[in-house]
Formats: sequence, C-alpha cells, structure tokens
Amino acid sequence: MITTVQVELGPRSYTIHIAPGAIERTGAILQPLLPGGRVLVISDATVAKLHGKRLLGALQSAGIDAVQETFPAGESSKSLTQADSLWQACAKHRIDRSGAVIGFGGGVSGDLAGYVAACWMRGVAFVQVPTTLLAMVDSAVGGKTGVNSAAGKNLVGAFHQPRAVIIDPDLLRSMDDREYRAGLAEVLKYGIIRDPEFLAWQESKAGALATRDAATVAHAVAVSCRIKAQYVAEDEFEHGARAQLNYGHTFGHALERETRYTTYLHGEAVGIGMRMAADLGARLGVLTEPDLGKRQDELLRRYGLPLVHVAAGSAAGPAADPAAVARVLAGHCSLDKKVRKSRARFVIPVKTGEVVLREVADPALVEAAFLSAIASR
Ligand code: GLY
Repeated sequence: MITTVQVELGPRSYTIHIAPGAIERTGAILQPLLPGGRVLVISDATVAKLHGKRLLGALQSAGIDAVQETFPAGESSKSLTQADSLWQACAKHRIDRSGAVIGFGGGVSGDLAGYVAACWMRGVAFVQVPTTLLAMVDSAVGGKTGVNSAAGKNLVGAFHQPRAVIIDPDLLRSMDDREYRAGLAEVLKYGIIRDPEFLAWQESKAGALATRDAATVAHAVAVSCRIKAQYVAEDEFEHGARAQLNYGHTFGHALERETRYTTYLHGEAVGIGMRMAADLGARLGVLTEPDLGKRQDELLRRYGLPLVHVAAGSAAGPAADPAAVARVLAGHCSLDKKVRKSRARFVIPVKTGEVVLREVADPALVEAAFLSAIASR
C-alpha cells in the first residue's frame, strides 16, 4: 500500500509517496509528472553502488531516458566546486528545459542536486528520492536546496520545490546504525513541537523504532512528512512558523561548529540542543509542562542518542571547564543563521505540541542553558 502526503503550495503543490518498495515504482510515478526530456540522477558513489541500478531500471522501464552522475560521499561534496562539476555533467548529458534532475541519497545529495536543478537553465524540474531517515523526514521535503561555502554552512542556496518526493522505507535497512538513530532526533522533534499524539505513539513504539521495525518506521516517516508538509504549506519561505522546525537547532549548530563538524552527526547535536532548549524554556518561565523535559530525555535515551555534550580537554591538559565551554558556545549563537538584529532567536517549548520563537537578550540565560547539558570528562 502506498501512503501519500500532499504538500499544498498552489501551482507548486506536490505529493510525497511513501511505500516499501516504492523505488521500483519511481518510473511509473514520475512519467506523468516530468516534462519528458532526459533525466539526470545525482547520487553519491555509495548510494549509486547500493541502489543505483534499481532506480535507473525503474525509470527506464517506464520509458524515461535516465542517466546517472555520482560524486564522492560526504559533506565536503556540498560545495560550489561540486555543483559546477554537476552543471558540466548537465551540459555533457544535454539536460535542457524539458529535462529533470533527481536527487537520490541523503541530505547532501538532496541539497546539492536540488541546487544544481534550481540553477541549471535557471531552474529545471527536480525530484527527491531520499535514502536516509533524516532526508526522508526532513531535508527532502520543503524545497530548501544549497551548498556550503567559506562563509558558513547552508548559507548559499535557493528554494526549489521538487515535483515529487518518493520514499522507500526499505532502503533504511542498509543504513548505518548511528546515522539512522540520529534521524530519530528529528522524528522526536515533530512530536514535541506539533503533535502530542505522535509523541505518545513514539513512547509506545520507541523499541520498534530503534530496531527499525518496517511498519513502525513507515508510520513514523508518514506522520513526520505530514507535519513537515503543514509547516511548508503554511510558510514556504520561512518568514514565520517554519522556523519552529529549528527546535534544538540553534544550540545544535553551535555544538557542531565548536566541534568542527567532526564529533556529532547533525541529529545527535540537535538532540542535545533540544534538551538545552527545554532548559531555556524553564528558565524563561515559558515552559508550562515540567514533564516535557523528562519525556524528551527518555526518548533520546531509548533512541540511543547522546544526552550531554562532553567538554573534553586536550590530551596533554586537564578537562575543559564546562562553564567556559558554555560561554564559547553561547558566543556562536550570535552568528547563527537564525539571528536577527544580532539577537539570537530560540525555539522554546511551551508544552507538548506547542513552541514559540523568542529572542533572548541575556547571554547568561543562554550560557546556563548550554551548561545544563554539558559534562566534563
Ligand atoms: N529543515 C528545516 C526546514 O526545512 O525548514
């Protein structure tokens, strides 16, 4: 059975198709949606090796003229240099305005391929076929595309909505365990920010989710996509409500930056960041549900995610002072993308299913929130 979720964006509306084995149906789903020209599938070399033939076969058997280009796996490929190589590939394969690009892979592939599609010939049709949990529940939906630059992560990009998102949860079986668990942080996020029922469901299914029970995972993906689709429909260009999706992210980005993107997977940093955001909510007197933090902690634990940032000293020196680390991390927040008029904005929980955006002027409060989830080694 195929589950569909509609992203309502007027003439740019599209459907998210979710079903075990959906990859085999990609050609049949896309055939009526694409302009009819050649399709370029973009994926990293690992995904191409694992699943590339199946996707190309499914496209070709529906009569779609499809070719594939790969790039080296890893965040460093999300660059203008890599995008330029792919634009050259577009030229080599004669992708014109009747053509299309498919981003096939995790967040890096989707963001990079989407940006390539957004700019090539000033925009060609684009499709997302995500292969990681994080991409299925978050980055493949909503049209954010882009690359990293010397100016920072995710600062260069374009909104370019896909014509369709095709999700085959069976592909998650081959995913690295740590990466899979990191994706569960975003699933938890949706329960906290928007849907108390989904949070309670996760509490009853955490074991099955952590061990990737197929039906449980498919349900979690569908509900997450439904929530993400609501935010995107409400606020496509993130002028307001969509920013709520950044719950835990301002803290998480500071942790990622401070550890030079080498210690945490994005979801892991976001998980710790959600704890810090709940702490900040309590300090500000905004959080009205004392239980929320405990429930969040318990699910993070059951998903096998880290609960604290360990402030490690150098091999030669003593362990770092957590208060000093918190001060440095709070400093990073004023440089985060969500900063307006130099005041950091945080997504703060009010109660399960409700969050607010708050500017926090007092750096001591932010430091204290960081400190609440920092341990010294
Ligand atoms: N990942 C957050 C958003 O798409 O808005």
